[in-house]
Amino acid sequence: MQPDDSTDSTIERTLRAHLQVFGCQMNKLDAELIRSVLAERGYSFSASPDDAGLILFITCSVRDHAENRVHSRLGVLKALKRRHPELVIGIMGCMAQEHGKALLRQHPHLDLVCGTRDFHGIADLVDRVRDGQRGLTAITSLEPPDVARDESQRPFPFKAFLGVMRGCNQFCSYCIVPYVRGREESRPAAEIEAEARALIADGVKEITLLGQAVNRYDDGQGHRLPELLLRLDRLPGLRRLHFVTSYPSHVDQALIDAIAACSTATRFLHVPAQSGSDAVLRRMNRRYTTFEYLEMVERLRRAVPDMELGSDFIVGFPGESEQDFSATLALVEEVGFQQSFVFKYSPRPGTSAARQYTAQVPDEIKRDRNQRLLRAQEKISLAKNARHVGRDVEVLVEGRSQRDHSRYTGRTVYNNIVAFPGSKEMVGAFVRVRIASSTALTLIGDRVLEVVP
Ligand code: SAH
Ligand code: SF4
Ligand code: F3S
Repeated sequence: MQPDDSTDSTIERTLRAHLQVFGCQMNKLDAELIRSVLAERGYSFSASPDDAGLILFITCSVRDHAENRVHSRLGVLKALKRRHPELVIGIMGCMAQEHGKALLRQHPHLDLVCGTRDFHGIADLVDRVRDGQRGLTAITSLEPPDVARDESQRPFPFKAFLGVMRGCNQFCSYCIVPYVRGREESRPAAEIEAEARALIADGVKEITLLGQAVNRYDDGQGHRLPELLLRLDRLPGLRRLHFVTSYPSHVDQALIDAIAACSTATRFLHVPAQSGSDAVLRRMNRRYTTFEYLEMVERLRRAVPDMELGSDFIVGFPGESEQDFSATLALVEEVGFQQSFVFKYSPRPGTSAARQYTAQVPDEIKRDRNQRLLRAQEKISLAKNARHVGRDVEVLVEGRSQRDHSRYTGRTVYNNIVAFPGSKEMVGAFVRVRIASSTALTLIGDRVLEVVP
């Protein structure tokens, strides 16, 4: 008998998955873990949806815009599903957790919905769909998923995310994350250290610890973030240790002292202020005042003078007056952030802000404030980056520049992006680069002085 080609390629297609990842670093890490689960079951991965037998969206609910992108991409898959009825399409991550079954009604070509704490079972879910069950939802687990990490699924061999906690208890009034990610749970420090050791043994030089309010890490066994940093800092082979995201009022002296004491610890802290107006901060249920924020920055810079800071801001939160917004501009000037992400407020159904504050700032005002804040930040970033011109910086080389293929890019310990004439061999290594010019986003090097051992 002749082998049946069509069956062969169908089997191949069945075990070929295509993942699309939206949202924050948590989702990027979850996508890596989901790949690990699938790889263990024999899946390979495809960059294109066209030759995949399984398509999974790892989604974000944080703003309306993020959800709309997923809805429209899902819509596009309808035609593909018609051509390949055996194709399995699943939605995972925060939108899955938030909307559950409603997604199945909205998109009849969708086969399964799997929540943020259920992805360890994703391969079984797909099998059940293939056995004939349609419209499956798994949004049940209370436990954080425990998944064996497959090193070959890490996007970069030399750097890695490490999840130290899941969930969030902060309930900022605008934010959907506590609803879609559940309550805070910290992993035991010993488990984190073991994972860090395994990553380092596999070639990782830079680790980024992840948590929604990562500086609330507390494993209940005497380890909070400062202890964890000091413990990981000692691991031979680790060169850089970052952590995101920090909640302002939990940047306490113990954490500051630990950052100062750790030779690997980041010199860039992402510590979102959200607003510079105390009235708005109160309505956002952020538990600090602008004064306390500035005081935290001062303590931090006293202990670590070269510390750079990054922030997120929401403009157009309900009731934000021009005066409130001016206070935000003033805060940005006063702190001198290296980088700020600016978001227009997007009411999330189910959050307390969406319930309580129904009168919205008009969209054109949101847009205008968004532009003005970005321009203010750009001016600061330009001036900050210009100070590096003529200096040498140490860069962990990440790869070829997307924009300019003749250059390579990487980051400094201050989180500056550096573009420079490099080579393939430098990827994953530390190099010293002479900075010749700069923009608001990038330091541009004209030569590599040395590869740092
Ligand atoms: N845990 C992190 C990240 C949360 S989401 C933190 O606490 O900083 C990332 C950013 O999205 C937030 O910092 C906030 O600036 C923004 N964001 C969250 N909900 C939003 C909403 N409803 N509308 C607009 N921006 C929002
Ligand atoms: Fe959302 Fe606030 Fe938690 Fe960050 S700390 S995830 S903004 S609720
Ligand atoms: Fe992250 Fe978006 Fe979920 S910001 S936690 S992917 S809602």
